[in-house]
Amino acid sequence: MTATLITNIGELTTNVGAAGDPCGTVRDAAVLIDEGRIVWVGAAAEASDVLSRFARATSGIRVVDAARRAVLPGFVDAHTHLVFAGDRADEFEARMAGRSYSAGGIHRTVAATRAAGDDELRIRLAELIRELRGQGTTTVEIKTGYGLTVHDEERLARLAAEVTAEVTFLGAHVIPPEYAGDRSGYLDLVCGPMLESCAPFSRWIDVFCEDGAFTGEEARRVLEAGQRRGLAARVHGNQLGEGPGVALAIGLGAASVDHCTFLSDADVALLAGSDTVATLLPGVEFSTRQPYPDARRLIDAGVTVALASDCNPGSSFTSSMPLMIALAVREMGMTVPEAVWAATAGGARALRRQDVGGISPGMRADLVLLDAPSRTHLAYRPGVPIVAAVWKDGETVG
Ligand code: NIG
Ligand code: FE
Repeated sequence: MTATLITNIGELTTNVGAAGDPCGTVRDAAVLIDEGRIVWVGAAAEASDVLSRFARATSGIRVVDAARRAVLPGFVDAHTHLVFAGDRADEFEARMAGRSYSAGGIHRTVAATRAAGDDELRIRLAELIRELRGQGTTTVEIKTGYGLTVHDEERLARLAAEVTAEVTFLGAHVIPPEYAGDRSGYLDLVCGPMLESCAPFSRWIDVFCEDGAFTGEEARRVLEAGQRRGLAARVHGNQLGEGPGVALAIGLGAASVDHCTFLSDADVALLAGSDTVATLLPGVEFSTRQPYPDARRLIDAGVTVALASDCNPGSSFTSSMPLMIALAVREMGMTVPEAVWAATAGGARALRRQDVGGISPGMRADLVLLDAPSRTHLAYRPGVPIVAAVWKDGETVG
């Protein structure tokens, strides 16, 4: 593997926080990567020195001239539902004409996904992975949840595990139609054979704790069963209204509670006193025309905030982390450095990862080069494809 020196970086976001600068900004910087890891970060002026010292110990160094543009850590998208078949553009169109979002649409994707073969799902997933990599995402969490039988959930977990280490078992997404009259029968299935089949492919257990999906008590049962089986908890909560999701997540030591659109003061206080991350998913509010979560309220209270896409065919069919940053800045009261931190280091916290989400020696060489002089352009130029290059584990992928 050839080492790579990226030099002449105008603005480097390291996320090695300094007072008043969560992004740990270094100007006129250079980064050396080798064997898939970051080995050195420093001033561009020292790069030639490092180069000659390092060149003696390695077979060759590729030099990339960043031409004074911005480099930042690859985005860490800690919440997606990428394994599915079908299309729900008609629901989106109806919503834009005044209809409101209903979690009931999930059933349509479940039916299409069950009917699809592995290869069809694998090809669709590969296309989405290519799409998100090209926009700078280098770590992605993927949930099951559109199978809802033992066989189909296992298929989705297995396919997701082919492309990421961050697989989440979400058998408790909704009650499938064949169990409509038997909630407790479905919960027995999720907490028993389905969990057994999916756990070998999964790191996480999740549940959709919301009116119309699972109650607080049902959600607790699912999460505890997953934890007993060695999975770590994360929760969909407080998306459509206030509810028990946040308190439950914190009580069980979940890594993250996701959506957090409707929070009581008590929820905010609980989050602030915990190390559970609040993962905000503004693509959902954008695509369902709902009020955005109040990130300012959370950050001012001391809550750790992450941004993720929630990419799924129903409530947020976008894989664009730059769009999440633009929405967070424009609509949710976040500053640019806060939003960039939340889309990188925040996502890493939500996944309890220390090897991604920052640029410092020892971390994975996951980086994004922008065709712009500063990270501010991610929000300043919404919708414009300004990602010029992406490295994952030291190799260019986009
Ligand atoms: O995170 N909240 C539950 N699940 C998805 C929506 C899934 C769908 O509509 O297909 C979400 O928003
Ligand atoms: Fe989701």
